[in-house]
Amino acid sequence: MRITPSILNADFANLAAEVRRIPGADAIHVDVMDNHFVPNLTLGLPVVESLRRATDTMLDIHLMIEDPDRWAPAYAEAGAESVTFHVEAAAAPIRLARELRRLGARAAIALKPATPIDGFADMLDEVDMVLLMTVEPGFGGQSFLDLVLPKIRRTRQLMGDRPLWLQVDGGVSVATIERCAEAGADTFVAGSAVYSAPDPDAMVAELRNLAIGACRH
Ligand code: DX5
Ligand code: ZN
Repeated sequence: MRITPSILNADFANLAAEVRRIPGADAIHVDVMDNHFVPNLTLGLPVVESLRRATDTMLDIHLMIEDPDRWAPAYAEAGAESVTFHVEAAAAPIRLARELRRLGARAAIALKPATPIDGFADMLDEVDMVLLMTVEPGFGGQSFLDLVLPKIRRTRQLMGDRPLWLQVDGGVSVATIERCAEAGADTFVAGSAVYSAPDPDAMVAELRNLAIGACRH
């Protein structure tokens, strides 16, 4: 069970310090938005390069951008251990996943809530993780969409015994993480839940414990 906090709701003027507040995180989830694929603009490659120098923790880049075929490889070259692109935006997802792996990164595909997984079942050997959005991408602090739970189950089923990570992103909190874990998720993005907590690192530990507990039944 991995907790990968999103820095979307952290203080963007003090990112190095914000990352140091969550030493227990399994990775730092970085939301890159281009104001085209989603109606919001966040940060890009120069900030990721600076973050790379500021932390040894795994960087988990979530690209919510158009034309990831063109832009995603640079994030792998910048030293990010995991690069996720949206299937709705990629022109050649298999070629892109192979390129990311060739550059030494884990490759991952992301799906918006209404995008079915079934059309991507045949490319599961080409990726290391599937990210299922549990809100419409674009903003932190939205409510978790329960309608994605059957897709989480179905995705885990399609993964079979491959060592793939299944990440959920959006509205994950102490109120929703157990449902995700029971359905088969093993990697959890939490933005506002972590950064609005008085002790963000304690929240990371609490979320992980809840996810582990939910899987025991
Ligand atoms: C939303 C981003 C998420 C977001 C999660 O488009 O991809 O990573 O930061 O934030 P919370 O946990 O607040 O929903
Ligand atoms: Zn994200």
